[in-house]
Amino acid sequence: MKVSVIGTGYVGLISGVGYASQGHDVICVDVLEEKVAKINAGEPPIHEAGLPERLRQVLDKGNFKATTDITDAIENSDICFISVGTPSAADGSIDLKYIEQASKDLGTALKNKDSYFTIVVKSTVTPGTTEGTVIKNVEAASGKKAGQDFGVCMNPEFLREGKAIEDFDNPDRIVIGRLDEKSSEALKALNKAFTCPVLETPLSTAEMIKYVSNAFLAVKISYANEVAEFCKKIGADPYEVFKGVGMDKRINPAFFNSGLGWGGSCFPKDTKEFAAAAKREGANPRIVDAAIETNKILPSKIVELAGDVSGKTVAVLGLAFKAGTDDVRESQAVEVIKLLNEKGAKIQAYDPEASEVEGLEREETMEKALEGAEICLVLTEWPEFENIPFSGKIIDGRNIVENRENYEGLFW
Ligand code: NAD
Ligand code: UGA
Repeated sequence: MKVSVIGTGYVGLISGVGYASQGHDVICVDVLEEKVAKINAGEPPIHEAGLPERLRQVLDKGNFKATTDITDAIENSDICFISVGTPSAADGSIDLKYIEQASKDLGTALKNKDSYFTIVVKSTVTPGTTEGTVIKNVEAASGKKAGQDFGVCMNPEFLREGKAIEDFDNPDRIVIGRLDEKSSEALKALNKAFTCPVLETPLSTAEMIKYVSNAFLAVKISYANEVAEFCKKIGADPYEVFKGVGMDKRINPAFFNSGLGWGGSCFPKDTKEFAAAAKREGANPRIVDAAIETNKILPSKIVELAGDVSGKTVAVLGLAFKAGTDDVRESQAVEVIKLLNEKGAKIQAYDPEASEVEGLEREETMEKALEGAEICLVLTEWPEFENIPFSGKIIDGRNIVENRENYEGLFW
């Protein structure tokens, strides 16, 4: 099939390269020329396991390209995914500016297309957005009618950064929100290679499924962290506790790892918007609000454990919001660094992959970060931090360190 993708971030690029590797013709569009040039040169702009190889393979095969020209992409495709960012606005609610722009651009490019076209919203958008923003903008810019000239689906993405290719290849389920039955025909045909269950729903139900999934996972982790704090007080190991808890099939063991909590480009913004949207509708999201609060105080807990750091050299190992990614968006490690700075610590930070953190100088190696340090904080669970060549005190925020002589765990 002929596919286009608007936005070449974690979701757009992985999906584009993924569908191309299944044999479809894919054109990815981005507004950033530099990003497009890198992708076409076979250099992934993000760190993702397996992506360099897969990108090279589809470029060599000739059925994948990136461009800044949306008209070319729409002219040469029958189905288009919108996968631009949906960050938080200053008040915590969703900022739809990229969705607004992308849907206007798509509508304009669709104006001269004669054949039926399918638009798929893949970005995480608050319930009502596909109908109220995307359809409205595309209709206004194209002069065409949804359901008649073009179909509309909302197809939430569940991939994890660091495991994005693995998750694209092996989804647990595919959720297809659709405007009408015809709207989902092309998307179902495109997804024929997958064997997982496919759930078709109204558009706003699909939008809701994505928020509820992320909010539930965040709640699970915050619950694990509350339990872990309690466990430490009675001398129980929270990892052992949750091993036992997770053996219940109704509960399942995933996402109970306690520690510094959740960050990244998704859980923080999606929980905030879930809570804000619920309140806008007059509902009361007490549990999600509490999960957000529990998560917010975790950086200060690890800094408290470090004691008086004023004038001391502190080695910080890990900046990415989790291992396996270069992403530092809303990383808990960045919050810890802010607090350490406020307390007058001299920070020597190292991360094997993390992208730049504003205002922070970085060491080239773990050994350099440890040189002359009095204390070491471990903030991301990179495997290379299992054994840290350091004789000073180690405080582990992620339960990753194996050498535990002069050691304290955040909650264990
Ligand atoms: P990202 O910020 O990494 O990438 C978005 C890309 O869209 C950028 O390259 C940007 O330049 C481009 N863009 C913005 N406006 C554009 C326009 N008008 N035309 C063309 N390109 C444009 O975002 P991401 O992390 O890939 O997330 C995208 C969406 O998917 C978000 O809604 C996010 O919540 C959701 N999501 C993300 C993940 C993840 O793991 N990152 C997983 C599931 C869902
Ligand atoms: C998460 C979801 O897992 C994906 O299903 C979803 O598609 C994505 O958000 C999204 O909507 O963008 P991601 O943010 O890549 O994926 O990372 P996770 O592996 O979920 O981790 C999120 C955060 O929770 C990390 O900071 C991680 O360290 C933390 N975490 C995770 C824990 O503290 N404990 C756990 O047990 C698991």
